[in-house]
Formats: sequence, structure tokens, C-alpha cells
Amino acid sequence: MELIQKIRKAEEYIKSKIDFQPSLGIILGTGLNSIAELVQNPTFISYHEIPGFVVSTAPSHQGRLVFGKTHNKNLVIMQGRFHYYEGYSMQEITFPIRVLQALGVQNLIISNAAGSLNEKLQPGNIVLLKDHINLMGTNPLIGKNDDKLGERFPSMNEPYNSEMRKLSSEIAEENGFTVQEGVYAAVTGPSLETRAECLMMQNMGADLVGMSTVPEVIVAIQSNIKVLGISVVTNMSNIFHSQAHSQEEIRENADKARKKMETLIYHIIKRI
Ligand code: HPA
Repeated sequence: MELIQKIRKAEEYIKSKIDFQPSLGIILGTGLNSIAELVQNPTFISYHEIPGFVVSTAPSHQGRLVFGKTHNKNLVIMQGRFHYYEGYSMQEITFPIRVLQALGVQNLIISNAAGSLNEKLQPGNIVLLKDHINLMGTNPLIGKNDDKLGERFPSMNEPYNSEMRKLSSEIAEENGFTVQEGVYAAVTGPSLETRAECLMMQNMGADLVGMSTVPEVIVAIQSNIKVLGISVVTNMSNIFHSQAHSQEEIRENADKARKKMETLIYHIIKRI
């Protein structure tokens, strides 16, 4: 089946369940599931029900869409995302972005948990992505292009919308915390980076490293969706200390930043 037909099927299924047109989408990264509680009277649709959606195998990812209103704005939240390291194709992990676009999403907040390659970005800090480096060795747009879905060669001149970044910095300041900016390098994982790989990425100009986001951003940009990328720093990469970090440590730090993220996202929804 052609991609566009698959999108229509997923769209039709969702529309058969809920009469609602979301304009803002939010993808919640590791440890940020509770942000979905900002939605009033939510309607949930599990990924496994939706034709074309695969099922997330990552721990702490729930795997459902949450629809509802906050500040009278129509939202759809992806509680849980798909990663390339789970064994899915680039097209599969970015399929939900195509469906969000079909449902009417024009702005997308993409969050993630990331490791820091920059001493100034410490665990618990919130970092607005200003650019990225795709080190995944592949691209979700490889293959036949359907011009109805977007351009063959979409510009990556400004993948992360500067107005949304400015708004986020203002909101943080008004609420007594700071957000920083950084460049996100995406790797496939699931093995963590070696010290040599971290040094390479640092030398290339990356501030953060993670295993998600970039495929989603590429498809969102091709789909004419404006993107705000936000990382929660969960750990320093191993150029800074020699100990391996546990999954538990990563989750604890994501937890600390969650409050700030909640405030940020709550106000962004209001003012976007
Ligand atoms: N590396 C890659 N992905 C990550 C990391 C990391 O150190 N921390 C959270 N996600």
C-alpha cells in the first residue's frame, strides 16, 4: 500500500473514534509522560489500535495518543514514541508525524531525554534545540517521494522554529528558570557512545546526543509543520566521567526537569 493510503486509513480510524481537529502536537520523551495530564477530558487511542502504527517496545513509553483541550487549544499528545533501535524502519517510526499532519497539526513540540556533550549543559537542564546533526546513517525520506506529502529535497535551513524558541526562553524567564540552546546529534543506539565517539561529536559542534527526534523533525519539516525541539539533559556523556550511567540515573534526572517542562509546555500551549 502507498504511504498516502496508509495515512488515510489511520486518519479515518482516528476520526471514527473522535470528532476533533488538533492544531498542536506534543511528543513526550522519556520520563515526561505526566505532561499528558495537562489535557482536560482526555480521549486515549492506543497505538496498537491504529492501522499502520507499530508498538513501542522501549521501557517507560506508554504508546497512545491523547486528545483533548488545554487553554481551549486542541491538542494531540504522543505518549511514547518509536525508536529506530527497536528494529522498525525510518518510515515506521515517523508514520505518526504523517498522521498528525493529516489530522491538522501545524505546530509540534518534540521532547526527548539526551546526554550532554557540553559542560555547560548539566543533568536536569532544559535545552532548546537550535539545530541537529544526523548521525543515524539514514534518513526517513529515502525512497519514492510522494509530492502530495512534501518536497523531495526539503530545506533544513531552520528546522527548529526560531519564534517558538524565543517564546520558550521568555516563558522560562518569566517563571524563574533558564533554558539553554544546543545542537542535538542523533545516533541509532542502542549501545551508548564510546568516549571517542563523544569527542568526535563534540568536535563536530554537537552539545547533546540522543537516539530519537531527528527522523521526526525531518518528516515534520517536509510536512510543513513548525517544530520546537526540547531536550531534558539526563546525564553527562562519558567524556566527563568514566562511570557508566544507569537507566535509573537517566530516569531520576528526567524527573527533576519534569516540573520545569510542565510549566514551559503549559505556557507555550497558551501563547502559541
Ligand atoms: N546517549 C544517547 N542517548 C541518550 C543518552 C546518552 O548519553 N542519554 C539519554 N539518551
